[in-house]
Amino acid sequence: MTESLSPKVMRTSHLAEFKQAGRKVSCLTSYDQITAGIFDEAGIEVILVGDSAGDNALGYDTTLPITVDEMISLGRAVAGATNRALVVVDMPFGSYEISADQALENAIKIMKFTGADAVKLEGGVRSAEQIRAITTAGIPVMAHIGFTPQSLNNLGGFKVQGRGEGAEGLKADAVAVRDAGAFAVVLELVPAALAKQITDECQIPTIGIGAGPDTDGQILVWTDFAGLSGHKPKKFVKQYAQLRETLLSAAKQYRAEVVDQSFPDNSMSFEG
Ligand code: KIV
Repeated sequence: MTESLSPKVMRTSHLAEFKQAGRKVSCLTSYDQITAGIFDEAGIEVILVGDSAGDNALGYDTTLPITVDEMISLGRAVAGATNRALVVVDMPFGSYEISADQALENAIKIMKFTGADAVKLEGGVRSAEQIRAITTAGIPVMAHIGFTPQSLNNLGGFKVQGRGEGAEGLKADAVAVRDAGAFAVVLELVPAALAKQITDECQIPTIGIGAGPDTDGQILVWTDFAGLSGHKPKKFVKQYAQLRETLLSAAKQYRAEVVDQSFPDNSMSFEG
């Protein structure tokens, strides 16, 4: 395998090389140093500090309330724990929609205080001006189109996007983010055939979530992938572990041993 397909440190340019070579990219979210270190060691190419931290780590009901400062704390933990993966930090709702200047100011803040490699923001045509301003300033941008969770209220809930007449709009979104300088684009909840068409026609790498097998890479929210969340898994989620069950049973056993005084025993105690 050539060096560019097994890089020591992942850069945005490697994703383009992977696409050229037909090599798929694995991506997971992470919001803390422990999981980031594990995923990095496993060779996951891209770690996204997603604003899904809002409803997976910080106790909010959706991604909407999470702030730039909260994303910076999580981003710093993840970027500080990785040696190889490309670390991308989500720009939260309210941090880029007002203007290109607002987007650039917050992107700079995120890059300066996290040590991440890139930012991600949602929206196609509607966010192209913001993406152009950020990339022109030298900050790599991953775009995100299809179902965009920050627009949950406008999209009428968690729904597949780009069906029927919506396909042309989604293709226009992909072209707009590519032309604005995005180095890759997340396609979320998109019919598989349309995701394949965008992947074939739009030169930048596509990263799918609920977008079928033909995108250039795949991303999952780590709590879904690890079977930790406790919700019924969505159709597109494969659980690679059952961490919720493992932790639940460990916590029950620990509690029982504290109550019956079998933990700690003398071998775990210090002498005077
Ligand atoms: O915030 C997030 O986890 C995301 C992924 C679903 C792509 O944006």
